[in-house]
Amino acid sequence: MQVRSPRSARTVRDPVHHPVFARWYARCSAAAESRGMADVRRRLLGGLSGRVIEVGAGNGLNFAHYPGTVSEVVAMEPERALRALAVEAALRAEMPVDVAPGVAEALPVKSEAFDAAVLSLVLCSVRDVRRALAEVRRVLRPGGEVRFFEHGAGGGRVMRATQRALDRTLWPPLAGGCHLSRDTVASLREAGFELGPYRRMTIPENGPALPQSFCVIGTAWRPLSDTGAGGG
Ligand SMILES: C[S@@+](CC[C@H](N)C(=O)[O-])C[C@H]1O[C@@H](n2cnc3c(N)ncnc32)[C@H](O)[C@@H]1O
Repeated sequence: MQVRSPRSARTVRDPVHHPVFARWYARCSAAAESRGMADVRRRLLGGLSGRVIEVGAGNGLNFAHYPGTVSEVVAMEPERALRALAVEAALRAEMPVDVAPGVAEALPVKSEAFDAAVLSLVLCSVRDVRRALAEVRRVLRPGGEVRFFEHGAGGGRVMRATQRALDRTLWPPLAGGCHLSRDTVASLREAGFELGPYRRMTIPENGPALPQSFCVIGTAWRPLSDTGAGGG
């Protein structure tokens, strides 16, 4: 959305603006909850505790699945329409959830302020995965954990070639900036995280594999010995 700044005639653009995708995602993601996604979200978030930052929280479907051991969630969502829905979901949540605008590449929070970070179906859509993960590392305390559930590259040669071709053409403009051929596990390693257990899965679990079906769910840590990512 374009808005006029009150102080000048300058036009300010939201950093992420996908109103059509947002409407579609809100409807489809809510319907997918009863078709297995609620279980995936519970598995993703089970056992978390302390202060959590959720990056690209969308319409806030994770909020209902945080365990009671989480004391507070800060949910960043840059897309205006999805953020409004996340605010509504936050009001229904059992723990304090603070929804705020902000992109993964420049998280507007202090360094080392969180015990855990949640990345769910978001690394596919950020503009710069490397910067986003550097930010996640910065805002986590040393030893803090990342819980991730992401789709990405998978399948055989033909499927991977199809994913890459779609990424160069139709998919990102149609799917709110999403990409199909990213590799979350490799990106986390490159960003300096220690990989914990992770599991590959397809969504839907039983059914035809689509280009967006190849998912990974797991845990990574900012190393305890890592004291170099802070600074702000
Ligand atoms: C497929 S949706 C997933 C939403 C939610 N995480 C979930 O699990 O349902 C992708 C989300 O990433 C957000 N997003 C896109 N670019 C982003 C960026 N640069 N930084 C943070 N979030 C971003 C979108 O606005 C959208 O909410």
